[in-house]
Amino acid sequence: MNLTKPYLVVFLFSILMHVRAQERSTIPVVQKLLDKMTLDEKIGQLNLLTPGGGVATGSVVSKDVEKKITAGQVGGLFGVAGPDKVRVAQELAVKHTRLKIPLLFGSDVIHGYKTTFPIPLGISCSWDPELIEKTARVAAVEATADGINWNFSPMVDIARDPRWGRIAEGAGEDPYLGSAIAEAMVQGYQGTNLSHSNTMLSCVKHFALYGASQAGRDYHTVDMSKIKMFNQYLPPYKAAVDAGVASVMSSFNDVDGIPATGNKWLLTDLLRDRWGFIGFVVSDYTSLNEMIPHGFGNLQDVSAISLKAGLDMDMVGEGFLKTLKKSVEEGRVTENEVTEACRRILEAKYRLGLFDDPYRYLDSERPKKDILTPEHRQFAREVAARSFVLLKNHNGILPIKKNAKVALVGPLADSRKNMLGTWAPTGNPDLAVTVIEGFKKVVPNATISYAKGSNITDDKELAKKVNVFGQRVVIDKRSPEAMIEEAVDAANTSDVVVAVVGEATEMSGEAASRTDISIPESQKKLIRALVATGKPIALVLMSGRPLTIPEEFDMPVAILQVWHSGVEAGNAIADVVFGDYNPSGKLTTTWPRNVGQIPIYHSVKNTGRPNPKGGYEKFKSNYLDVPNTPLLPFGYGLSYTSFEYSNLRLDKSEINQGQGVNVSVTIENTGDYDGEEVVQLYLSDVVRSITPPRRQLKGFKKVMLKKGERKEVTLSLTENDLKFYNSNLEYIAEPGEFVVYVGPNSNAELSRSFVLK
Ligand code: BGC
Repeated sequence: MNLTKPYLVVFLFSILMHVRAQERSTIPVVQKLLDKMTLDEKIGQLNLLTPGGGVATGSVVSKDVEKKITAGQVGGLFGVAGPDKVRVAQELAVKHTRLKIPLLFGSDVIHGYKTTFPIPLGISCSWDPELIEKTARVAAVEATADGINWNFSPMVDIARDPRWGRIAEGAGEDPYLGSAIAEAMVQGYQGTNLSHSNTMLSCVKHFALYGASQAGRDYHTVDMSKIKMFNQYLPPYKAAVDAGVASVMSSFNDVDGIPATGNKWLLTDLLRDRWGFIGFVVSDYTSLNEMIPHGFGNLQDVSAISLKAGLDMDMVGEGFLKTLKKSVEEGRVTENEVTEACRRILEAKYRLGLFDDPYRYLDSERPKKDILTPEHRQFAREVAARSFVLLKNHNGILPIKKNAKVALVGPLADSRKNMLGTWAPTGNPDLAVTVIEGFKKVVPNATISYAKGSNITDDKELAKKVNVFGQRVVIDKRSPEAMIEEAVDAANTSDVVVAVVGEATEMSGEAASRTDISIPESQKKLIRALVATGKPIALVLMSGRPLTIPEEFDMPVAILQVWHSGVEAGNAIADVVFGDYNPSGKLTTTWPRNVGQIPIYHSVKNTGRPNPKGGYEKFKSNYLDVPNTPLLPFGYGLSYTSFEYSNLRLDKSEINQGQGVNVSVTIENTGDYDGEEVVQLYLSDVVRSITPPRRQLKGFKKVMLKKGERKEVTLSLTENDLKFYNSNLEYIAEPGEFVVYVGPNSNAELSRSFVLK
């Protein structure tokens, strides 16, 4: 193009206007406000504070919060709850600031608000997105009744390292299941209309790849190929974005050398430009300031870098508040960049309807009506039962007959403070039902003798660390030997033993990584002594992560994995132990034999020297000391009944690009109980331009079958299910053979293949 000077000016001006027009909000109320706002007022909106009183996870709790609100220096608060308290804070903003802009009120409602559900890892084992959506709906109803309009959930970080304590907060290792759950939770929180008074903004976190923290140590480095990111780790975040999530939280970790909070590739190129996200991005708790020790400069530097990268709101760290004005004056960031961030936050407030009525969530009557209702508690009990995974059932020890004489032992059998699970800051541990209470309620006529049997751990130093939010580990005055003796006596005089063992709640969660993820030694000794009695023994295993349990798994026992299962824990455990509910949960993480196998997950790749037969072979890819296989595979879980799969068939053996395949299988309940089964479909792409995983989950369906019933189950593989991101990060399906496996876990054996032309 040959442009003379006047044309060039007009041309550049029209480009500028075009860009500006795109930036102007399509929401007139928001644009009108922005037009009136000073730079200081805009920067104020980017500031998220907590007055304290909640869980301070970083080193800071915001000071002088009231003064700052009235000075127009705050866009939102978290850690304030209850309509009356929230009203006081909202009035400060609405009555005492120049432009009367209402505040957002955030909270970590991770697995239920006051009606605490099982930890998310547990809920994911239900493999039931509809049920999970409903847990999020109930959480939103309760949280909004308490004045909260923004939820820092769902946490969708793919986690393949059980040493990492925060594996408890997500949906496990698989991107396909993780995406379905992410979508369900966003829908549950946000509902169909964000301006309803019982829906709230959802915030997907922690963007991105937080679950891949090196060596399972929290907040640690992440360095990953783009191929692995796109195919394995990013899908759940994208699913949340596609479901319309209103906000995204950046993560603490760096991603390929750049902290996520200041990572332009992540926050702008990928999130906004490639995925089309239109909401706002908030940092994690002081993650902006933490870029200083990451090696990114001083507070002014990291604040400018983060704003330019696409961060809109600064959680607690106040780097934006303290430095952005100076950076605008010095030309390090533009006022337009500040305006853009502010616009996104104001748009979220608009979507909530706060400009129409800033008090719309503040009805003092609602908490009584909507929180911890009997219906919600009943639902929590059902969800908990559905999160349990039966790992082993030697001689059909479970379910226990309701008239049996039961010895209930173990340090978690009567331990109210350990029922809710990690990251339940809005729940009240004192309201939780213990296992012993659940037993007494469900089998009121049974003879139950209780003995603690052991401490959760005898290690006083560990106990101190775990008791950070209150007494989770109580070290008994009696000697370990005396406690074991009491439990063995109880066992000897009973028909059957239920031993409730495992981790205290704060042995997982944030900054609770472990390098040894076995059952603590104090409890192992108890278990060995109980097994030596020869009585039938059911281990009820509580934990916030997969544990290494090769020794216990070899024992002649039943093992019911119950995670930390929330406010109704004891009732739900009793329901399952005594057979009122037949367990149907399936693992959403692989359980390793030992920590040396980590990371271990079902969608591993073949090597050039695979070892399909198992057993050690020289010059094959294997270990000298353990097999390559895990102790328990992804998707695994037993039932009190048994299921048989047969007659797998595909409706086509050859398809064209753009087509899908219907996969049908017959399933029969061949045991003695009614029960549910999660039918799982795995796909292997035999030859492709980047090395394929061994198999990948591409479909599942939970079905109920009466005793003796037989059903036909059909799952559809869509065009998208055949796609992957290739080395150019194009999302494509490549021609060739695909093998479909259907069965009860990731080792599903029935298979058929088809060809994509
Ligand atoms: C956690 C986040 C949480 C935030 C606010 C941080 O320590 O990483 O998941 O939302 O605190 O409580």
